[in-house]
Amino acid sequence: MQSSEIRKRFLAFFEKRGHAIVPSASLVPANDPSVLFNTAGMQPLVPYLLGQAHPAGKRITDIQKCVRTGDLEDVGDNRHLSFFEMMGNWSLGDYFKEDAIRWSYEFLTNGDDKADGDKGLGLDVGRLYFTCFEGDENAPRDEETAAIWTSLGVPEHRIYFLSAEDNWWSPGDNGPCGPDSEMFYDVTGVLGDLSKDDFISAVKREDIIEIWNDVFMEYEKREGKVVGKLASKNVDTGAGLERMTAVMQGKTTAYDTDIFENIFAVINSSIQSPHSADVATESSEVRRAKRIVADHIRTAVFMIADGVIPANTDRGYVVRRLIRRAVRFSNVLGMDRTSLASIASAVIEKCGPLYENLFSESSHIQTELENEAEKFRHTLESGLKEFEKGLDPFILFTTYGFPIELTEELAQEKGQTIDRVVFDEKMREHQKLSQTASAGMFKGGLANTNEATIKLHTAHHLLLAALQQVLGKNVKQRGSNITEERLRIDFSFERKLTDGEKQQVEKIVNDAITADYRVIRCEMPREEAEKIGAEMEFGAKYADVVSVYLIEDATGSHISKEFCGGPHVEHTGVLGHFKITKEEASSQGVRRIKAVLE
Ligand code: ALA
Repeated sequence: MQSSEIRKRFLAFFEKRGHAIVPSASLVPANDPSVLFNTAGMQPLVPYLLGQAHPAGKRITDIQKCVRTGDLEDVGDNRHLSFFEMMGNWSLGDYFKEDAIRWSYEFLTNGDDKADGDKGLGLDVGRLYFTCFEGDENAPRDEETAAIWTSLGVPEHRIYFLSAEDNWWSPGDNGPCGPDSEMFYDVTGVLGDLSKDDFISAVKREDIIEIWNDVFMEYEKREGKVVGKLASKNVDTGAGLERMTAVMQGKTTAYDTDIFENIFAVINSSIQSPHSADVATESSEVRRAKRIVADHIRTAVFMIADGVIPANTDRGYVVRRLIRRAVRFSNVLGMDRTSLASIASAVIEKCGPLYENLFSESSHIQTELENEAEKFRHTLESGLKEFEKGLDPFILFTTYGFPIELTEELAQEKGQTIDRVVFDEKMREHQKLSQTASAGMFKGGLANTNEATIKLHTAHHLLLAALQQVLGKNVKQRGSNITEERLRIDFSFERKLTDGEKQQVEKIVNDAITADYRVIRCEMPREEAEKIGAEMEFGAKYADVVSVYLIEDATGSHISKEFCGGPHVEHTGVLGHFKITKEEASSQGVRRIKAVLE
């Protein structure tokens, strides 16, 4: 069964059971400054799991793009992918254990003989195993869930009770959480009934793998502690599409499924001798390197499409690292320089029909990828020279972008070793600092909302409108950041602005300030806002009802329309005098302006 068929059946199955199909949210969380990327299907839904009404209703199903980059070093084995898609069905205070469990079971086992919308994966019941929460001080042993499984025909000895470590799910130290029940599949097909200990070791050996998780989300965690029950009982389910596809195609890894097929075709054809392209005879190092290149480019493509640009901090740092590792391992494989672009094209071709921003952003994706890869190729050359001089691996990493394993390999060649303890400590400190930096931001890039930032925020809207007036409607916002002192906007434009253009932009903004236009906030359906041409943040996904800020002139026409959560001033007259302090390249095809109000 192709991955496309699994997607189709999953959504159709839950749609038939009253779930609204919603599109995947962006990889970049819209409202949650505590994480850099969505790491699970439930993340974009946290406000609704906490009780806010979802515009699509109480039953939702989706296939959410997710990124997990905590263990990049493990990518290349059979299981780890930095990007994956999670199929999910959600009850937001509607159905609970009974329906959730029955539907999971039916979807896993229903065969082709069923009607459309009831068709499932037709998995052999004899190869399935189930786990339930054994209970602790926070919640009782989940006998209720086990009883529902047995009522469906699951033999009692195929149900294992495990501790919170395995069967309690929460997205972090804060948020909705609860006991879960997981479904496992015997990929060997020969294991049959197992004792609990044998089941656990088969899972460790990866002879049995987890394919689905039903979380019964009725609790809330704060600061790592379960503090009580939520107002409503929710269901959060997750089934990894890549893993499920591997199971359905009888493969031990997603890399061998149709999801990666065209990517590996490109990789294999761009590997030059003496590196073997023959899958049957390749060494485990070659196989690992190929998988790393495939995985990292795929993830980078999705990230860039969602508006992330290589940089030294936060999200930009993650995408930079991915591209650099891909370059590094493509060198190991002896791939030619153009092959990363061909791999990106393969990803776009495969996934573009599902995520249309891959198509619309394809040239932007290729440009960012190529620039970063090219920069790193130079870095590799000059970094090698620095390495010869004996530089600190931490500096090599943060300044030259040298992955630690590269430094280690180079050191090894010279008979030296790297002090990983010191390096890791410095890295932890570094990561803590960048985490703190990202924790300071929230929606719209506003660091805090005192008067100065609110004014700059409104000036930011005027500036975008002025840029479009002077440089053309093609100018789109690519990023923003506001502090008390200044605003910063990144926008798509190919070249340096002339002095004349900058003066024109300043004049338009200052005229708008002098004219004292009204700033109005409206709530409207997203479609309506799109229809009136309101500016959207690049790569962001919006709710069905959105907040739009309009800046209205005396004749009632709108000189600025933006999707925006605010806050803003009420009249532009209070802003003062607007001045551009800097105009520079931010990345290929993206300019950056910094400006102040005096
Ligand atoms: N949120 C659950 C998971 O990610 C379904 O496993």
